[in-house]
Amino acid sequence: MARIIAGVAASHIPAVGAAWDNGKADEPYWRPVFKGFERSKEWIARVKPDVCIVVYNDHMSAFSLEIVPTFAIGCAAEFPIADEGWGPRPVPAVKGYPELASHIVQSVVLDEFDLTIVNRMEVDHGLTVPLTLMFGKPKEWPCPIVPIAVNVVVYPVPTGNRCYMLGKAIRRAVESFDKDLRIVIFGTGGMSHQLQGPRAGLINREFDTRFLDNLAPDPEALVRISHLEYLREAGSEAIELVMWLIMRGALDDRVKEIHRFYHVPASNTALGHIIFENMA
Ligand SMILES: [Fe+2]
Repeated sequence: MARIIAGVAASHIPAVGAAWDNGKADEPYWRPVFKGFERSKEWIARVKPDVCIVVYNDHMSAFSLEIVPTFAIGCAAEFPIADEGWGPRPVPAVKGYPELASHIVQSVVLDEFDLTIVNRMEVDHGLTVPLTLMFGKPKEWPCPIVPIAVNVVVYPVPTGNRCYMLGKAIRRAVESFDKDLRIVIFGTGGMSHQLQGPRAGLINREFDTRFLDNLAPDPEALVRISHLEYLREAGSEAIELVMWLIMRGALDDRVKEIHRFYHVPASNTALGHIIFENMA
């Protein structure tokens, strides 16, 4: 039986990827950011997942306003790196796991969550920056990735509760896959950030800390945060945090916090990161 053994949440700030790609990781501004992930890299090298399911959002790279799937799953064997305006990031192409992805679709759709099947998709910083933070600069990513893309860009975006319940459905799907796989699920994006308008650069450390504090013991409190509350308290892009709730929903009720890191500001936003392991 396949099983989800751990969850990782991490912001996917594009400037972090650019700093890494352009050899700036050791500069004073960026050094603390990458230092916060040193333990995480050691942890994942030790855990050696067979597969990672990465929940992220596309930033108009693979999709456009012509097609906006609320939840989509990448079923391809390979996902090329998107060109977001400066050429594709110099990172390995992402290898998929079509058999597992197709199984998840089959299970989750029959479980009444309608995932859009995507057989050709480029992946952008939403997916690749967390991989860089966790795996560094390998020649190939160390395991196949199943991408799950969530629309948090064009309203209406899904509620936190819907995301949390989808996480539970993904877990049921994984556990009915007939192969012995140890899977880590990522929820990416967040934390507080607002990229435009008079409130650009908004950071609400109190809100973020409360979110981090509640994620393990009381996710049910977090799923009740409304879209308006995210906007008001933590900025328009903080809505990305609903993707962390998919990760949390896919884990046990009781989880162990392995590592936490919070850093402000990083490119005008709050960078948050947390790792949980299932207790069983
Ligand atoms: Fe984003």
